[in-house]
Amino acid sequence: MKNLFLAKLAMLLMVMVLIAAGCTKEGPQGPAGTNGTNGTNGTNGTNGADGTAGCIECHSPDGIELAATQYELSKHSWGEAAFEEAGNTGCTPCHASEAFKYVVENNVPSTFTLNPTTNKYVNGYTTVATAAYGEITCSTCHSALHTTYTPGDLALTTVAPVSMTMWGGAKTIDCAADGGRSNLCIKCHQPRPFTASAADGNVLDYVGIAAAPGDWFYNPDGGTATKLKPGYRTHTHYGTAGAVFAGMGGVEFGSGYANSFHTSGSSCQDCHMATVAGRAGGHTFVAKGNFNGCNTTDCHSDVNASSETFWVTPRANIKDRLNSLAAALQIGGIEILNRNPDTEANLWAANTTNKYDGYLNIYDPINNPEGLNNNPTGTFQNPTVSNSWTQEQKDINAALPKITLTNAQMGAIINFQMCLRDYSLGIHNYKYTKTLLDNSLAAVGTK
Ligand code: HEC
Ligand code: HEC
Ligand code: HEC
Ligand code: HEC
Ligand code: HEC
Repeated sequence: MKNLFLAKLAMLLMVMVLIAAGCTKEGPQGPAGTNGTNGTNGTNGTNGADGTAGCIECHSPDGIELAATQYELSKHSWGEAAFEEAGNTGCTPCHASEAFKYVVENNVPSTFTLNPTTNKYVNGYTTVATAAYGEITCSTCHSALHTTYTPGDLALTTVAPVSMTMWGGAKTIDCAADGGRSNLCIKCHQPRPFTASAADGNVLDYVGIAAAPGDWFYNPDGGTATKLKPGYRTHTHYGTAGAVFAGMGGVEFGSGYANSFHTSGSSCQDCHMATVAGRAGGHTFVAKGNFNGCNTTDCHSDVNASSETFWVTPRANIKDRLNSLAAALQIGGIEILNRNPDTEANLWAANTTNKYDGYLNIYDPINNPEGLNNNPTGTFQNPTVSNSWTQEQKDINAALPKITLTNAQMGAIINFQMCLRDYSLGIHNYKYTKTLLDNSLAAVGTK
């Protein structure tokens, strides 16, 4: 590894020499000049500092070389979202390196502002078109790399409290353990805003939804104002772990909310960057299958995959509640939630018995064509008919039963998606997850 680095360094120097040579345009060679007289010997200067000393503090086999090797196993590195979302100024603050660094450096607020011309709210949490790209790499999280060439350059890009985009900035997460280093992760691993897309475009009022569970959220024939037309893809975006960990971001029906010890007493890195075991830990950022983070002097002693109290029972309890909530979310015997047994496309397939993916069981021949993932396309009528559908598809849709949603059902759907897509089945924050699901179940019973 070290040799590889030295080779890289040598190459870099060679390139510099070549570039320097390439800059002078050469004319024909002139005649040789006469030899000059010899100069007198000067005194020896003092030895200079070793040119690579600072470099070696990081560029050592057990330093960045090892971190870089582990990083190849991280989805930050091999995932494709940074390429797919490149150019999109709204998506890249969480998906691309330059955009992330831009929103951090410029402290871009997550507020929604009313555009007086359209009378719609606009989400201000965006980067600029000139910085909407870049794979997630070392400098995304260590943005000072190669500024002073000292180990201090490894400082994290941000540990500041995170103004949550899903609340339009009205709430802030500050997970202060270990110097606030969880906030780095949460800045990206937070849900995107759920907006009243069919109304003023502002963030949905979760407090209002929780306070009136029996009211209609969506009823096309009931004459109620529609904030949002449900569709197959009506969902809480994937990065829910940070919000669940912090004990925020759900539609909080009822009362009894509390956080587990992890929220204030641990950081994401404790479990996701623990001593490597198998293909997890360190700069793989993977927690799955690695219990080294649990078993440290400050925390547990011998937690493993068969520990009843700390693993098997809490995870089974949350899985049960996800199953029960999915069963309760139905209208006239038709399930509201979509099943997707394809374990490649559905990252959360193992978290419920019927393999829900968090999408809705609504007809959508474009985004969910029949046969995709061995999945029949949705059962409820799609309230938004697309011009790109064939006449046959429009006719099929028109014949399907219409969906209606109470506030209780909409809130429960949001909470189901939050807890399913948190992946951990309660390990991030057992108390909050359990109360959110229990209270959602109770609320769905209200109409
Ligand atoms: C704070 C730690 C740190 C220090 C100090 C440091 N580097 Fe680096 N360097 C890095 C990291 C991290 C990378 C990226 C490694 C990777 O992507 O695998 C890197 C990459 C490189 C690369 C490869 C660039 C490339 O695009 O592949 C070169 C060359 C390099 N450093 C030279 C140096 C030199 C010369 C010094 C000393 C003057 C130095 N570094 C000091 C952390 C450091
Ligand atoms: C710049 C934004 C950003 C930061 C900062 C960030 N992540 Fe991520 N993370 C992502 C994105 C985006 C993905 C998905 C990448 C893809 O699919 O291409 C991801 C994926 C992951 C995954 C894999 C999830 C899976 O589906 O298997 C884990 C685990 C993870 N991150 C943990 C962390 C931890 C822990 C931290 C803090 C040390 C962190 N992340 C910091 C954006 C970020
Ligand atoms: C507030 C941060 C944030 C924003 C904004 C955001 N995402 Fe994400 N997204 C994430 C995180 C974090 C993940 C990875 C979650 C995980 O695997 O746990 C993710 C995952 C994804 C995935 C799944 C990738 C996979 O590997 O399966 C897709 C696709 C995606 N995002 C698309 C988008 C698009 C399109 C937009 C813009 C319309 C967007 N995202 C905006 C944070 C964000
Ligand atoms: C998703 C964010 C993230 C990315 C990407 C990332 N790091 Fe780190 N890195 C961290 C965190 C967090 C720490 C722990 C620092 C702390 O707690 O103060 C860390 C620590 C380190 C350390 C100190 C020793 C150690 O391993 O804990 C080195 C060296 C390092 N990173 C190198 C790298 C290199 C090289 C890359 C790219 C191949 C990289 N990092 C990519 C977040 C990241
Ligand atoms: C107490 C330990 C612990 C802490 C702290 C923790 N996680 Fe996790 N995380 C887990 C476990 C366990 C899983 C599920 C692994 C499995 O499915 O076997 C997980 C799963 C995940 C996943 C899905 C991918 C994966 O590795 O399975 C993401 C993304 C994630 N966590 C992000 C975070 C973020 C961001 C934080 C901090 C806000 C955090 N986690 C804090 C233990 C933890």
